[in-house]
Amino acid sequence: MPVTAIVGAQWGDEGKGKITDLLAQEADVVIRFQGGNNAGHTVVNQHGTFKLHLVPSGIFNPNAVCMLGPGTVVDLAFLCNELEQLERSGISTANLRVSDRAHLLMPWHVALDRLDERERGRKKLGTTGMGVGPAYSDKVGRHGIQVYEVKDERRFRERVKRELETKNVILERFGDAPLDARAVADGVLAAAATLGDRVVDTLPLVETALARDSRILLEGQLGAMRDLDWGIYPYVTSSNPLAGGASVGAGIPPRKISRVIGVVKAYSTAVGEGPFPTELHGDDATALRERAHEYGATTGRPRRVGWFDAVAARHAHRLNAFTELAVTKLDVLDVYERISFCGSYELDGKETCDMPTTNALERVRPCYETLPGWNTPITAIAERRALPDNAQKYLSRIEQTVGAPIGMVGVGPERTATLL
Ligand code: IMP
Repeated sequence: MPVTAIVGAQWGDEGKGKITDLLAQEADVVIRFQGGNNAGHTVVNQHGTFKLHLVPSGIFNPNAVCMLGPGTVVDLAFLCNELEQLERSGISTANLRVSDRAHLLMPWHVALDRLDERERGRKKLGTTGMGVGPAYSDKVGRHGIQVYEVKDERRFRERVKRELETKNVILERFGDAPLDARAVADGVLAAAATLGDRVVDTLPLVETALARDSRILLEGQLGAMRDLDWGIYPYVTSSNPLAGGASVGAGIPPRKISRVIGVVKAYSTAVGEGPFPTELHGDDATALRERAHEYGATTGRPRRVGWFDAVAARHAHRLNAFTELAVTKLDVLDVYERISFCGSYELDGKETCDMPTTNALERVRPCYETLPGWNTPITAIAERRALPDNAQKYLSRIEQTVGAPIGMVGVGPERTATLL
């Protein structure tokens, strides 16, 4: 079982950080393969509670090498800040490596992300405002700056100046302040100096790890419903959080990924705009959100909450072929007498289990089954078989409708509160 991908099977925020933290205890290498500091992975362990944005959740294992793969977009100053905070909590970050092929997320990407959202007005996407979309746009449009480019200061300053010639025209056209090329370059170069020789070609490291049968974890950000190609476009992120994206973004040949864990919450949440068929509103939503502390780890925004959507999770399974599911936060449902469970949608008068395109998803009606709750605390339970009958039935219903077996169940926030 050397290479495991951990990916989100819903709208993001499924609890991947916790599952990665757990498995990273046994891992030799942990690689983030897409996204940037739009991620917010909450990890609760013996060192405290952490919200990681860029650094892989494997950082708490002193024996694991953690990498930001070539598929990520990296705000170097933000990264240094995060590393400093970890160091202050006594966590060594010496084992972090940043791919020299990753793209730099520059201050103008942040400015353009916010400008774009503002100009979209009521049609905004609800991005995290971290600059991720514009950074990937530049990458695809071949205007991106790769991390290795910081090593040649003169050339790097020239690149920054050239890019800002066009970016500043846009910023000023929409009434925003232009950015100063020297200040921008100074900031990035200072952060690069702090990182020093942690910027490397990650491919030889990965190749050696594979040759040694080392245990490699590929840590996804977000979930299938926000995938650039298969999610609810345009309310998606600008990269591919699927296991297929892990191969490219980490530099791992697809045949080498032998285990794909799809992480799902026992219910649904989403931050940002776009269709969300099982969304709850009013008091029901508030009760679930407060009970489960559903606020965005990156932006603090209240998360939209709803019932489990098996169509969405099955869509993710069709794209990822999960070897197993990890169900998180099952204990949140402890207080319900009855639980609604969406096994299919009604679309234009017909029942379907397929995920339609975004415009059609806006008008589907979730078909709910009502499942009996268990109405008792489960956090102290140590085995799946010891769960109350109705909790076991709920898990079985997830397995049947999604089509993948459950390998892990989270019954509380701690690393230890996970049934394997
Ligand atoms: P972006 O990735 O910041 O461009 O945002 C695109 C969409 O993905 C928005 O709906 C965001 O709210 C959502 N998103 C981005 N990162 C996360 C995350 O870590 N958790 C949940 N949603 C996210």
